[in-house]
Amino acid sequence: MNILILGSGGREHSLAWATLQNPKCDRLIVAPGNAGIAAIAECADFDIMDGAVVAGFAEENAIDFVIIGPEAPLAAGVADHLRASGFLVFGPSQAAAALEASKAFTKEICVACDAPTAAYGHFTDAVAAKEYVRAQGAPIVVKADGLAAGKGVIIAETVTEAEAAIDDMFDGSFGEAGAEVVIEEFMTGEEASFFVLCDGDNVLPIGTAQDHKRVGDGDTGPNTGGMGAYSPAPVLSDEIAELALAQIVRPTMAEMTKRGMPYQGVLYVGLMIENGQPRLVEYNARFGDPECQVLMMRLGGQAFDLLHAAAEGRLADTAVNWADDHAITVVLAANGYPGPYEKGSKINGLGAMPEDSMNMVFHAGTAEKDGAIVAIGGRVLNVTARGSSLAQARARAYDMVDRIDWPEGFCRRDIGWRALD
Ligand code: AMP
Ligand code: GLY
Repeated sequence: MNILILGSGGREHSLAWATLQNPKCDRLIVAPGNAGIAAIAECADFDIMDGAVVAGFAEENAIDFVIIGPEAPLAAGVADHLRASGFLVFGPSQAAAALEASKAFTKEICVACDAPTAAYGHFTDAVAAKEYVRAQGAPIVVKADGLAAGKGVIIAETVTEAEAAIDDMFDGSFGEAGAEVVIEEFMTGEEASFFVLCDGDNVLPIGTAQDHKRVGDGDTGPNTGGMGAYSPAPVLSDEIAELALAQIVRPTMAEMTKRGMPYQGVLYVGLMIENGQPRLVEYNARFGDPECQVLMMRLGGQAFDLLHAAAEGRLADTAVNWADDHAITVVLAANGYPGPYEKGSKINGLGAMPEDSMNMVFHAGTAEKDGAIVAIGGRVLNVTARGSSLAQARARAYDMVDRIDWPEGFCRRDIGWRALD
């Protein structure tokens, strides 16, 4: 098959890496890709947000299957455009991607199907939003409704802080995303992510993971896109996963189908777990980044068959071949991230890294310049390893980290602590 993957991060590098291990893959193109992806696949540069452009490229290159990595093209309707042009696609329609693109929509679906989640209010003006906050008290969570690249959520410790966040959102600090605001009950517990493939009728769990959102060791400092992840997440036991499927995922899928917007693709189910009960924090309409990297490390070449089965509506006859293994990924970020950081610094030592089914350095924000790998993003590398225990996987990953020569970068040294300590 000729396969096209859309995206340019560590998530897409890991999807490409897994796809290439599958004998069904004859030709792989990634658009736009990055320096790490370019080392293993063809890269093409075109506007992945424009459905007509993507369909045109797919036509010219006789593409059999398109895998959409990031949320932005999904929310822009690129999957719909491709399907209307006759292509097989992995990723939800624009309507179904609202499970990520609109927090108010997700809450409405949860209410309609009785899925456990935080109590909430949905507001289009600041006065009513502040009234609600004063009535509820703090701590309380203020969220911009739309896509805000992970920055649209404020956990307010006080009513005053919540009111300031509401003003910021309605003043346009979050652009279009903040024109509507969702205010939620603050949930306590432990967070974990559950990844489920959906084909409109059936669901197939493909793994659990835990991310580390804060920039500093011990979960300190500002929020980031994710500084590391590991899979499986012990807190998301089989029992909790069953509850999440029965009370949250399957009812949501049924409600989507009932509304004429069946969901096909991967559903990222962000859960808060307390006293043996999962509650929904959020849905994402795509794989997590860096959670995808640990899932791909564990699934290997079969990942492609699973994605293909989801796209073809064959999940009822599909099973995951589980190994009793663990994977971890450590994010190397540019000094300064998630604040301002320099671009263009040179990364040495990557050539000597092992690249096999146990060890892989996935690239996120990299480019090739004059034969060298340079950093061009905030999160730059995802140093990923697998082992028979999490401790073994972690030792392998940090061993690689320590051999990378990049003074302009840093990482957290405690990825996996919740599961190990
Ligand atoms: P979201 O983009 O909705 O996932 O929010 C980002 C992060 O904010 C989540 O991963 C949680 O850590 C936190 N968060 C969001 N909503 C809540 C809530 N209702 N209660 C507690 N924490 C939350
Ligand atoms: N790592 C969090 C996310 O992908 O949204």
